[in-house]
Amino acid sequence: MNIIKLNAIDSTNSYLVKLSKTAVLDDYTVVLTNHQRKGRGQQGAVWQSAANKSLSFSVFKAFDSLSITKVSSLAFAVSLGLVKALEKYQIPDISIKWPNDIMSQSKKMAGILIENKIKQGQIVSSVIGIGLNVNQETFNQLPQATSMYLSAHKKFDLDLVFECLLEQLVIQLNKIEALAMLSLKKEYESFLFRKGMISVFEDPSGKRFNGIIQGVSDQGELVIENETNSIKTFQPKALKLLF
Ligand code: BTN
Repeated sequence: MNIIKLNAIDSTNSYLVKLSKTAVLDDYTVVLTNHQRKGRGQQGAVWQSAANKSLSFSVFKAFDSLSITKVSSLAFAVSLGLVKALEKYQIPDISIKWPNDIMSQSKKMAGILIENKIKQGQIVSSVIGIGLNVNQETFNQLPQATSMYLSAHKKFDLDLVFECLLEQLVIQLNKIEALAMLSLKKEYESFLFRKGMISVFEDPSGKRFNGIIQGVSDQGELVIENETNSIKTFQPKALKLLF
C-alpha cells in the first residue's frame, strides 16, 4: 500500500483524481490528510471536519472489468467496509442511510464520496473518499452529526482506526472482483437505516410522502412501498429521507 500523508490539502479526492490523471497509480494508493480545508461531499455539498480529530482520506482502485451497471456494488462495498471497522470498535447502533451515509444512533458519523473514471461502459478506476468523525467533540450547526467519541464516550487512536478501516475496505472491495455482488447487496440491506419503518420522504419538487423502505435494487436505487402499497424505486438525486 502506498500511503501519501499530507499535513493539509483542499480535498484528498481532488488531489488523488488529479494525480491519477498524470501518473499510473497502484491499487490502494491512499492520500490521507490531517487537515482538509475544502472537503467535498455528495451532490456538491461541503464536508467539514476538525483538523487532527477525524479521518479524511481517499483510496485509488482500478478495475479490470467492472461494468457501469455494477456501480452500486462499489457503494455497497465501501459502506460495508466502514460498518465492519466501526463494529470492531464496538460503536453502537450502526446503520447505513441510503445511499451511503454511515450512521450511529441515527446520526451521521461518516460520509463517502466515490468518483469514477468511466470508459466505454466500464468503470476503469475509482477514487473513494472517506470522511470519518473520530474524536470530534462538537459539531456547530450540525445537530445530525456525531463522532466515534460522542457515540462510544472514549477517544480513539486515529492511526489504528485508519489501519482497521483500510483493512476492512480491502476485504469488501475484493468481493466486487470476486463477483460477490448479491452477498454485498444483501449485507448492505441488513444495515439499511429505517428499513421496514414508515418514513417521510421529499421529492425534488418539495412534495412529501410517507413510505416504507424495502431495500435497494441491483442498481442501488432505493425501493419504497408507498401508502397505496405500490412499490417504487428512486435514484439518490430524486429523493430525500427526512425522518
Ligand atoms: C458526504 O457524505 O457528503 C460525503 C463526504 C465525503 C468526505 C470525504 S473526506 C475525504 C474525501 N475528500 C473529499 O473532499 N471528500 C471525501
